[in-house]
Amino acid sequence: MNRSENRYCLDLKLGSINLKSPIILASGTSGHSDELSKYGDLSSLGALTVKSLTMDPWEGNKPPRISSYGKAVINSVGLQGPGIKHFILYDYPRLEAANANVILSIWAKTVDGYADIAIKIQEAVAAGNLKNVIGIELNISCPNLEDQNRLFSQSAEFTAAIASSFKKLCSLPMLVKLSPMVADPVEIANAAIVSGADVLTLTNTMFGIGVDAVNLKFELGNIYGGVSGSSLKPLTQSIIKKIRDANRSIAIVATGGIFTLNDMIEYWFLGANAVGIGTATLFNPRASFKLQKKLIAHLNKNGYESFQQYWNYLQEERGKATDGY
Ligand SMILES: Cc1cc2nc3c(=O)[nH]c(=O)nc-3n(C[C@H](O)[C@H](O)[C@H](O)COP(=O)(O)O)c2cc1C
Repeated sequence: MNRSENRYCLDLKLGSINLKSPIILASGTSGHSDELSKYGDLSSLGALTVKSLTMDPWEGNKPPRISSYGKAVINSVGLQGPGIKHFILYDYPRLEAANANVILSIWAKTVDGYADIAIKIQEAVAAGNLKNVIGIELNISCPNLEDQNRLFSQSAEFTAAIASSFKKLCSLPMLVKLSPMVADPVEIANAAIVSGADVLTLTNTMFGIGVDAVNLKFELGNIYGGVSGSSLKPLTQSIIKKIRDANRSIAIVATGGIFTLNDMIEYWFLGANAVGIGTATLFNPRASFKLQKKLIAHLNKNGYESFQQYWNYLQEERGKATDGY
């Protein structure tokens, strides 16, 4: 049987979530709805993570909002979005029509703000809406008004407070997305895990600025932004290794500089269960669909029956590589 026509082989369990593929579209680089459907079949991917939404519409930062160098970008989009209500009414139905599995990413400025969104989402679920939403991703890598604008995920206490209250209020699986800008990522990950996180998404962007040496200006209107793409990958990878070494069972989605099949293999080898494609989609909106084809060809060429079998092999190899030290 030609496995390229047989998608069952990519199935995996991501915590309590059944995914049909280990390739996910990361938040903020694949729109709020079905914008990418003209480039590939959204239903073939593991999930599409919508750009983080908060309760009300949010304007975001002043332009310019993005600049690129090499295979990396610095962005200060500032979480622009139409708000949860608009998403549920107008954007989500198009994703359901495209048969996409959806991860709904949310953010707020206070701990209570996350709880309010949990209640709103739970109401929609109880009303029989949001059937294709397979999980809620808490983007806690955003400024906390109650803590001098430090990121929520820079504090184990705030991470635990948001995750535990959200978990009580919303029945959907909970993904918690962490910042790489922390001294002790294992401490923050543990706070999320003991507070009920089903999945960790690792990581969001790291801090950065861009300077224009020709015009002697800052490249972003906001001056400060978040760096993603290849520059981020070694940092995200070191964080994933530390968290996986400390916890063998928590499900992990890796996001950070994935452009090639080898980038994905590196993350699976480190113990990530699935991968999120972010900046690569900005360079090429077909990136995730192409990577999925490459993965299927790789599994076929090397005689694996399933992605799970291949992933198990990579975990054994990591064990051997680690023992060597
Ligand atoms: C333009 C842009 C916008 C982003 N917006 C969000 C967002 O709204 N919420 C979020 O959790 N992450 C956001 N991210 C972070 C990505 O989801 C991803 O975690 C990060 O960029 C690392 O992956 P990458 O190197 O493949 O892009 C954004 C990234 C970029 C480049």
